[in-house]
Amino acid sequence: MKSRDRLRIAMQKSGRLTEPAQDLLARCGLKFRQSRDKLFCFGEGEPVDLLLVRDDDIPGLIAEGVCDLGIVGRNVLREFQLTNGTGSELSELRPLGFGHCRLSIALPQEDAYSEPSQLHGQRIATSYPGLLGEWLRAHGVDARVVMLAGSVEIAPRLGTADAICDLVSSGATLVANQLREAAVVVESEAVLAGRAELPLDERGEIAELLLRRLDGVIQVRDSRLILMQAPRAALDAITRLLPGAPVPTLTQVDGAPDQVVLQALCAGSVSWRQLEDMKRAGARDMLVLPVEKMLA
Ligand code: PRP
Ligand code: ZN
Repeated sequence: MKSRDRLRIAMQKSGRLTEPAQDLLARCGLKFRQSRDKLFCFGEGEPVDLLLVRDDDIPGLIAEGVCDLGIVGRNVLREFQLTNGTGSELSELRPLGFGHCRLSIALPQEDAYSEPSQLHGQRIATSYPGLLGEWLRAHGVDARVVMLAGSVEIAPRLGTADAICDLVSSGATLVANQLREAAVVVESEAVLAGRAELPLDERGEIAELLLRRLDGVIQVRDSRLILMQAPRAALDAITRLLPGAPVPTLTQVDGAPDQVVLQALCAGSVSWRQLEDMKRAGARDMLVLPVEKMLA
């Protein structure tokens, strides 16, 4: 294969993961010029290009070396790892914290469910035979897996299956099809997928740079910088109220030896209630700021 000196990232062309994935890459400082066919996007700043494809194709594109990295649901990646010979070369490099959903077994609403053994001898329709098969084996259930590429949720009504194993996000699809969630097979979210070992050339270096930026973005995404003035005597009480137990930085206030300016990076958002509690403890002039970038 012809070697490339630009990194190529695959992501879903249109679907639930598209917008948050694009947003994440933008936060990592990547800009793309969208091409006409919208399949290939040329990266303008860094030597990183984007390939917009069907999510199910992403692990295969990485395994074949067409792309170096991919943003894809953990469910799709794990299914590929279980059912493909080349799957063991791929790994989940980072969980990305969006696109949360679960792969679940669901039954018709009128069927009660209490334990896996109930599924013995049942026909279960799914697009995830690898993950379902693994779960069935782990629970000692002997069921028949009916492979369907799509529209899995209508299989019980059509009589082609007794149960399904499909993705559940809001749960609306299950409700609309009079199904109930019975057991969770895999908890999923968007992940960054890639080869277990990064290439040792220029592309590997770009990938490493991107991973470092990604870590920074993920770390600050939910962080808040809090600033306030407080009496020294109240510092312990206020520090205990800071979400995520950060170690605050203190600055002396000129002409007021008993006062300090406190600055702290909190993991997670800071609620009005938490601010009000800190105010009651003696803090004033409080500011909560979003964090844009962080580099340790
Ligand atoms: C999944 C799944 C369900 C639906 C569930 O498909 O197959 O149809 O989402 O979501 P809900 O609980 O919010 O109703 P999706 O559109 O994500 O794409 P896929 O065909 O690639 O699996
Ligand atoms: Zn899909």
